[in-house]
Amino acid sequence: MLRRLHSEQPESFEFAPANLAWAQNQISKYPEGRQASAIIPLLWRAQEQEGWLTRPAIEYVADMLGMAYIRALEVASFYFMFQLQPVGSVAHIQICGTTSCMICGAEDLIKVCREKIADKPHALSADGKFSWEEVECLGACTNAPMAQIGKDYYEDLTEEKLAQMLDDMAAGKVPQVGPQNGRFASEPKSGISSLTDFVNGAIKLNASAQLADEIGDTIKRIDGTEVPLVQGWEDQSNGGAAKATGVAANDDKTPAAKPAAAAQTPVETPAKPEKAEDTTNVSDEIEVSDEDKPAALEAARNNQPDDLKKIKGVGPKLEKLLNSMGFFHFDQVAAWTDKELAWVDQNLEGFKGRATRDEWVAQAKTLASGEES
Ligand code: FES
Repeated sequence: MLRRLHSEQPESFEFAPANLAWAQNQISKYPEGRQASAIIPLLWRAQEQEGWLTRPAIEYVADMLGMAYIRALEVASFYFMFQLQPVGSVAHIQICGTTSCMICGAEDLIKVCREKIADKPHALSADGKFSWEEVECLGACTNAPMAQIGKDYYEDLTEEKLAQMLDDMAAGKVPQVGPQNGRFASEPKSGISSLTDFVNGAIKLNASAQLADEIGDTIKRIDGTEVPLVQGWEDQSNGGAAKATGVAANDDKTPAAKPAAAAQTPVETPAKPEKAEDTTNVSDEIEVSDEDKPAALEAARNNQPDDLKKIKGVGPKLEKLLNSMGFFHFDQVAAWTDKELAWVDQNLEGFKGRATRDEWVAQAKTLASGEES
């Protein structure tokens, strides 16, 4: 298939403020001179914001990363996941046409798309609300035939179900995600013989479908204001782009910075993520004994530990390690003396030296006083 830029392009592109903060944080993951490595996430985010990848968006991302336009265009035109033409304003329907789905009725689903949307894939419906394409296996073969619409999967589809879903979406509704034939997940169609609690109990949908149902933003464009599902890089690194994101997102009047300036002035310099231990640390030079271990607790007071991950540089692994050492609260960390800090540093298996390097004590003092570090 020939992949080239669409003949009609918008005048310009800019990341929404929250997406811009997110993009800057992505760039900060890479070492100096390697910013181009962020090309795919940034192009993808631009597509998630607009629905498709426009020429101004490709050039905007290239500017952010200091790349020649042709290099960014090469990436955008190589990967089929990038839509180089406009997609439906409400939804782009991706029908899986690989073996399992094809055997179970994908052609019927494609027929619905041809009738209700447009005869050809990647063409817009008459009202501009929908577009469709056939894609390769989406990994939900046991629930064939299926389609991805927006962020979610719709499985065990039939012609009638898909037609109804398109009508619902056109009317502004988000149809129930997941299996469409009453199956809980991917159990045999004849019913399950084990783990019956799940389907006989109060839980209506399987875990991923339940989450998607609760979020309910299947066909919403991503503008960066979404709550991250996983506390990942953003929260660990700078408290994070996720947080910066929230601030920016609440201020509609905040203008998006120009890409070049944005690249030069990242939102906030992130602390290094959890990884191999740092062997060059002054605390190594302080002699400590077991007597220098700071006061520890058996368990968190009132069973309510502080979220130690708010200390920059502390992720889930380090938090677990600290808890296992008897540290659950900011005020405990804030009270460490130099010797105690050195003791902790030398006993952080796999993360030695991190407490001093990332200034945990100072951060904990701030957090203990109720402020953000
Ligand atoms: S064949 Fe359709 S999801 Fe795998």
